[in-house]
Amino acid sequence: MEAVALVAVTVLIGGIILLLAVWRSRGKTGSEPEPSDQRANGQAVPEKHPSKKTKQQKPRKERAQQHNFSHPLLASALKAHSGNITCFDFSSNGKYLASCSDDRTVRIWSTKDFLEKEHRCMRANVELDHATHVRFSPDCRAFIVWLFNGDTLRVFKMTKKEDTLTFSPGHDDFPKRHKASIINIGIAETGKFIMTASNDTSILIWDLKGEVLASINTNQVANAYATISPCGRFVASCGFTPDVKVWEVCFGKSGEFREVCRAFELKGHSAGVCGFAFSNDSRRMATVSKDGTWKLWNTDVEYKKQQDPYLLLTGKWCGVEPCRIALSPDARVVAISSISDITVYNAQTGEVEEEFHSVHAEVISDLAFDTTSKFLASTGDRAIRVFHNTAGYRAAIADMKDMLKKATNKGTKDRLQLQIRDAERALAAVCEQS
Ligand SMILES: *[C@@H]1O[C@H](CO)[C@@H](O)[C@H](O)[C@H]1NC(C)=O
Ligand SMILES: *[C@@H]1O[C@H](CO)[C@@H](O)[C@H](O)[C@H]1NC(C)=O
Repeated sequence: MEAVALVAVTVLIGGIILLLAVWRSRGKTGSEPEPSDQRANGQAVPEKHPSKKTKQQKPRKERAQQHNFSHPLLASALKAHSGNITCFDFSSNGKYLASCSDDRTVRIWSTKDFLEKEHRCMRANVELDHATHVRFSPDCRAFIVWLFNGDTLRVFKMTKKEDTLTFSPGHDDFPKRHKASIINIGIAETGKFIMTASNDTSILIWDLKGEVLASINTNQVANAYATISPCGRFVASCGFTPDVKVWEVCFGKSGEFREVCRAFELKGHSAGVCGFAFSNDSRRMATVSKDGTWKLWNTDVEYKKQQDPYLLLTGKWCGVEPCRIALSPDARVVAISSISDITVYNAQTGEVEEEFHSVHAEVISDLAFDTTSKFLASTGDRAIRVFHNTAGYRAAIADMKDMLKKATNKGTKDRLQLQIRDAERALAAVCEQS
């Protein structure tokens, strides 16, 4: 009897251990089988960035389709990619949105379709490779991509024939120069240089033909994010250290490259900075840090006269990494993603304005406002979700009401009253649609 009981207990314990092991190994792959359900229950854990090999082999056929997301402020969901989207970019003329995915295509969307039911897009194929990053050229007639397998940059020219865009890759890809994984690329709005940044400590500055002009060592242990300012003057980076470093890329009178020199730094966070963003005139920057805060900075300073940027506001941030931060072009709204959630803040008061949960089936890979500050877009799975930026409408109205109080001139008052009325109508229209 005792022997039988012992065997039974042993089998039972063995079974429990086996069950635990299975359960744990499932737990480790976390969001693999049903990511959307897990996230909805708030059980998602930040997943490690997949390594290059697993990224290609990962089965992801059914997953994105399972993810349903709806929200009254969702203006549209752009769907055409058959793989996860890693990056998108609004063209500076505001007309297009380019997105790239591991399905080997770049899609070009028309922003004026955002409120339509159908979202047409043009397709550019990335032969024998796929793009991880995409950026429009300032004249919106070309775009550059970072090639995942090629580990370098490719230029695509766009030509428009009777309303149809065609895309042709340039003759040669750029030479391979980076040793680590690329975290961002960019083309200066001045058209003078291209930037590529990797997750070691290096940033390269290139001319448009693929010649390296300068190499920057950020000395930030591991770069987390880097970008070119919208004015095209600066390159900035953040990483393991609690500062954001900003350099000026200097050119001579006849357009020849001169040097990269230190411009200014944002100092005030007490832990590593995960990301940052510029307003469209480069006069404001927003940062988010592991110290649990986000900050808004005034960078409209004459750094050559030793003026330092200064802090305008510190807001609380209780999210976790991986995260992204976006600042609306007019600097009135800050949006921060945390795994697959997004929180929207008023940049003047620091108050939370909106919260969107489980927006994507995967970690949010990109987050940005459109050029008009009317929409906020995000991606991570196969869809790009576009939200109405109602927080921005409200902030603009509050700003104008403030100005109205201070206005003394009748003409100014009349104009403001008219603008306030228009803005209130626009907001009401958005809310009605939703
Ligand atoms: C850089 O990114 C790659 C791929 O995502 C990753 O394997 C590597 O650990 C990262 N390096 C650092 C220093 O974060
Ligand atoms: C910045 O964006 C706002 C709209 O959000 C626009 O009115 C303004 O002209 C833009 N400024 C620049 C320098 O692009």
